[in-house]
Amino acid sequence: MIHLLATGGTIAGEADPDARPGRYRAGVRPVEALLAAVPGLDALGPLTARQILALDSKDMTPADWLTLLAATRAALDEPACAGVVILHGTDTLEETAWFLHLTLPAGKPVVLTGAMRPADHPAADGPANLRAALRLAASPEACDKGVLVVMNGQIFGARGVVKARSTGLDAFESPEPWQSARPDGRFAGLQVAELPRVDILPGYAGSPADLIDASVAAGARGLVLALAGNGSVPAAWLPALRAARRQGVAIVRGSRAAGPVEADANADDTGEGWLTAGDQPPPKARIALMLGLASGLGGEALRAVLLACDAARSSRPAQA
Ligand code: SIN
Repeated sequence: MIHLLATGGTIAGEADPDARPGRYRAGVRPVEALLAAVPGLDALGPLTARQILALDSKDMTPADWLTLLAATRAALDEPACAGVVILHGTDTLEETAWFLHLTLPAGKPVVLTGAMRPADHPAADGPANLRAALRLAASPEACDKGVLVVMNGQIFGARGVVKARSTGLDAFESPEPWQSARPDGRFAGLQVAELPRVDILPGYAGSPADLIDASVAAGARGLVLALAGNGSVPAAWLPALRAARRQGVAIVRGSRAAGPVEADANADDTGEGWLTAGDQPPPKARIALMLGLASGLGGEALRAVLLACDAARSSRPAQA
């Protein structure tokens, strides 16, 4: 039995009659209608379907992640469940996949998919993606691979997958193999009512330091810095970052370029008390930091979480 959980997205989108031609609304078509469009559905075996959310994924919140996590855990706990498929908007799909990868138990397959074209498009990609995801979730080969993403005939691991292009059926890519390392399962039993606020602050020419003060004043318990180059911290940011550290705010130095950002390589991370994202893109480092903070971790334990999530470290051959 495969359990299908729907959250909205373009895969459930339809043309917007109130907008100019070409615009559509995501997350309006119910999961039963999406299943009805899948070719050869009967041959795919037994399944159940539940509408968990009906969102455009740009509006997905950390609270929604917790709702989806609870629904996925409950589905996986059912003895008859062989795997779970989650339908999701593509815009933040990689964030939800990484969040679930870090918080779900190993074992049964969990596969996310979506679509780049709405359900009423004459060449909609959703039905084929959904079919592929259902087949993968029923496959013994997908067990113990961590959370997977299926798009456009390709399988990706949660750790590496990114939506690299804003349009086109081949929007997703990954620099890594489809099996993602699951850091150490430390968050698999995490039970929290809410996740702490962690903001991402972009570094760019002239980026103002008062955005740091604003985040901290608004209650951020962590900041992920999406900086230029090798995580280069603007000199003008230093006083605000030091003030944030004095207030106990965790700071992760990351890059808006592909990583890695290594500890102490391009800044005095040890002296400043900063963490580094390794090769995690800022949105994924943010999730690792949120989970660490939600678990009450700090200092070296928080550093260990970021290091464990840095897949390049775990797959990089040891230096002779
Ligand atoms: C969304 O992310 O919900 C809209 C865009 C998409 O699914 O492709």
